[in-house]
Amino acid sequence: MTPRKIIIDTDPGQDDAVAILLALASPEDVEVLGITCVAGNVPLDLTTRNARIVCELAGKTDVKVFAGCDRPLGRALVTAEHVHGKTGLDGPDLPEPTMPLADGHAVDFIIDTLRDHAPGTVTLCPLGPLTNIATALTKAPDIATRIAKIVLMGGGYFEGGNITPVAEFNIYVDPQAADIVFKSGAPIVVMPLDVTHKALVTAARNDAFRGIGSPVGIAVAQMTEFFERFDKEKYGSEGAPLHDPCVTAYLIRPDLFTGRHINVEIETESELTMGMTVADWWGVTDRAPNATFMNGIDADGFFNLLTERLARL
Ligand code: RIB
Ligand code: CA
Repeated sequence: MTPRKIIIDTDPGQDDAVAILLALASPEDVEVLGITCVAGNVPLDLTTRNARIVCELAGKTDVKVFAGCDRPLGRALVTAEHVHGKTGLDGPDLPEPTMPLADGHAVDFIIDTLRDHAPGTVTLCPLGPLTNIATALTKAPDIATRIAKIVLMGGGYFEGGNITPVAEFNIYVDPQAADIVFKSGAPIVVMPLDVTHKALVTAARNDAFRGIGSPVGIAVAQMTEFFERFDKEKYGSEGAPLHDPCVTAYLIRPDLFTGRHINVEIETESELTMGMTVADWWGVTDRAPNATFMNGIDADGFFNLLTERLARL
């Protein structure tokens, strides 16, 4: 089977980093056409730095990394240094990147790539706030029907929120952008907290990362050991929830996940519930389904895939 052509839109972030590494380690499954960076976990200058650090860690310095939007569409930027550290990639001590940023804006790369490839052949994989994706859809409405699929990490229903009681970070940072994306008509697969909170890096799983013994395996173990502090303290969980790698794993092994095709709308009015993904899981409205909202994961299968693929780098 030919590899799926993808654009990874990201705000690295340790979990973004692992998602990118999994993609770069799986050329038979995914062809990374480019990585587009957005402000989110940390400001844009750091997300573009971190994305290049990850590409160099993987030995893939030929990957095009673009800078995108440096703030949400209509709100002040909210960042998450309390989770990811001041660099956004705290944990391992990795060298500053030497590979350059690609020329041009991330939004134009997304638009041009979708227009240059046959309709239905390019998948967008947003791992952060949806500002770049929404800006591209607004600037070039014709791309909506050209997108094969949007497979994104964001939102939550049974799990509520992780930045407010009801909102997950990626959606909360730019709810207007999320609203545009969820109303775009493009096929959407959502990896919400409902599934990512079941993908926890237990000590044994982190030992397996470290046991790979390579710079990648050791760096991933150090990333998750740093990243897990927030969730262990807040939720008393057994380890870091690997949010973003669920997106990449879905592209490789969709059978690891289960969910429902339902209606999802975004709260963009009330400050109390701003950024909430109002997921009609039980079908109590007549709103048309617009997203496949995941809820189940084969966690052991996910970590076995991840460990096996990371060992390739
Ligand atoms: O809420 C988790 C999401 O927000 C992840 O994508 C994490 O990297 C941050 O972007
Ligand atoms: Ca992210």
